[in-house]
Amino acid sequence: MTSALSSPPLSSAIAVNVNHLSVQFETHQALEDIHLQIESGSFVSILGPNGAGKSTFIRVLLGLISPSRGTITLFGQPLERIPPHWIGYIPQVKTLDRSFPALAVELVISGLRRQWPARIRPAERELAQHALAQVDAGHLVDRSLGKLSGGELQRVYLARTLIRKPRLIMLDEPATGIDLVGEADMYRLLETYQREHHATTLMITHDWEAAYHSSHVLLLNRRQIGFGPPQQVLTEECLRRAFGHTGHAHAMFWRMSTDA
Ligand SMILES: Nc1ncnc2c1ncn2[C@@H]1O[C@H](COP(=O)(O)OP(=O)(O)OP(=O)(O)O)[C@@H](O)[C@H]1O
Ligand SMILES: [Mg+2]
Repeated sequence: MTSALSSPPLSSAIAVNVNHLSVQFETHQALEDIHLQIESGSFVSILGPNGAGKSTFIRVLLGLISPSRGTITLFGQPLERIPPHWIGYIPQVKTLDRSFPALAVELVISGLRRQWPARIRPAERELAQHALAQVDAGHLVDRSLGKLSGGELQRVYLARTLIRKPRLIMLDEPATGIDLVGEADMYRLLETYQREHHATTLMITHDWEAAYHSSHVLLLNRRQIGFGPPQQVLTEECLRRAFGHTGHAHAMFWRMSTDA
């Protein structure tokens, strides 16, 4: 069962190497001269205002958008040499048609297969059940996708991602639609997965508390405002450069950092 997904050994301690990356959409420059290295096993929160280029950055790493300048390697390899199951991705906007008559178990198994599963084998069902249980959603296995709440659907997507045992997980605002308890649970699950599999996680978020607890923060506003440990990047100066003002989120950050 696992042979198709067994992975060759890691070829690099650097999971993501971004070398002077720029992205241009016709006349609009979405990213300019991003230059950083992300070590394997890091948890990186990506922060920045709307339109800062956060989703674009992840989409470039996925090979969905070509850079206009610069190069990228993942685990020391060019993108085209990366086995698809090394990468797990949860997009910002789900394209799922809610009227499509499908069950949660099928969505989870579609993460293992390249096509929608017409029939689920018993061993696959067991894997899906396990993946759903990992995200506290075991009870959703036979539920119709169209009837799930936003937060429940998000958990099913997370199970679909983790069942592939990815080395690099990229999540675009995964907390959207999840209540506060569910959000804390999700971060805990991601951390556990990361620790157990030495996975690297890149998470776009507007959640400052999550960012403060991650190993690194990438602060973007078209340019790379800062990249490093949260205490170094979430400074008043960097926040002003990224957001134009520091505002409420900044006040909260300082409250947390002084409480710590
Ligand atoms: N395919 C595209 N063609 C043209 N412009 C694009 C395209 N994709 C994104 N953009 C533009 O690039 C900029 C960055 O977009 P992006 O989606 O990366 O922002 P973001 O930081 O993820 O914002 P948000 O917080 O709102 O999700 C925006 O101005 C957007 O309109
Ligand atoms: Mg976005």
